[in-house]
Amino acid sequence: MKALVLAGGAGSRLRPITHTSAKQLVPVANKPVLFYGLEAIREAGIREVGIVVGDTAREIEDAVGDGSAFGLEVTYLPQDAPRGLAHAVLIAREYLGDDDFVMYLGDNFVVGGIGDLVARFRAERPEAQIMLTRVSDPRAFGVAELDGGGRVVGLEEKPERPKSDLALVGVYLFGPAVHEAVARLKPSWRDELEITDAIQWLIDHGRRVESTVITGYWKDTGNVTDMLEVNRLVLEGVEPSVRGEVDEASELIGRVVVEAGASVAGSRIVGPVIVGAGSRVRDSYLGPFTSIDRDCSVIDSEIEYSIVLRGASIDGVGRVECSLIGREAQVTPAPRVPKAHRLVLGDHSKVQISK
Ligand code: DAU
Repeated sequence: MKALVLAGGAGSRLRPITHTSAKQLVPVANKPVLFYGLEAIREAGIREVGIVVGDTAREIEDAVGDGSAFGLEVTYLPQDAPRGLAHAVLIAREYLGDDDFVMYLGDNFVVGGIGDLVARFRAERPEAQIMLTRVSDPRAFGVAELDGGGRVVGLEEKPERPKSDLALVGVYLFGPAVHEAVARLKPSWRDELEITDAIQWLIDHGRRVESTVITGYWKDTGNVTDMLEVNRLVLEGVEPSVRGEVDEASELIGRVVVEAGASVAGSRIVGPVIVGAGSRVRDSYLGPFTSIDRDCSVIDSEIEYSIVLRGASIDGVGRVECSLIGREAQVTPAPRVPKAHRLVLGDHSKVQISK
């Protein structure tokens, strides 16, 4: 069995919060979301991985290399433009051969990995196995319609009027019949070759398509609340370790990771918290569920339940909560604005103004 990981997409689809052009490299607990996918694939016993790359190929290749750091053999499959998930399967045809494969969208995060799903696919061997999860706004996803017995009868990509709240999760398992389906597809209304149409073709042609409903799923939608929540989930599982410097005046409580080259002085950190390599924390408080990425500085401030991306600095600003601070961002106190009171007071008024 192989894996096909989709890490393409155009660099122009920039997300305002991260300024990263490859959305698959958005960090969760200081690690790119794509890495969790690659680890999950390895843990499911798969070694050969084709990674589909587009405009941001350089960035992805720099981050993943030949895959050996993950115990994987990675082959890069360039895609000229993001022409759809099924188009990615089309260009990977030769690489995949007639092997079964798991298709994994590089910006998806599945809590608990994919080991059980792969095992189930191997045991039952349908032509396709999909995962579904309940979402609040299905219009942003592929949506499945199930019959009374829980079988998938229809799939629609980003429908205006969704027939259910069951969204397709970006992990799909396929046998070789999907290539037959993909070869027959026509571009959709949004001019992409849709994998939902390929799966619909399999259903319409009597091939067995299985589905499982899961919880513990997150997709990089640019939604800060979700991102903080998935960061929290991952941080809850980190093993405490201190490889950087922590001075005597500091106190670390609970699951705290201080990476090599990071330094903490005069500060109190209540985990789970991760402080990335090369970051400095001085005279500050870091509270639960906070990820400080590499090369950041936090001085004379308090941060809780937040994500601070690489190279950001937060200096003398009091308390910051539930925040996502982008790369190289600088948070500093505002200069004092001279205040003026404009008053129209009646005769003999008494006014108290707090200074
Ligand atoms: O995340 C789940 C959803 O993913 C599903 O519910 C939808 O049915 C499915 O179509 C997909 O929708 P998105 O609009 O979220 O797909 P997106 O364009 O974000 O692409 C998903 C990943 O695949 C992303 O890492 C970029 C990569 N990609 C995408 C396209 C269209 C490619 O590598 N090549 C492509 O041509």
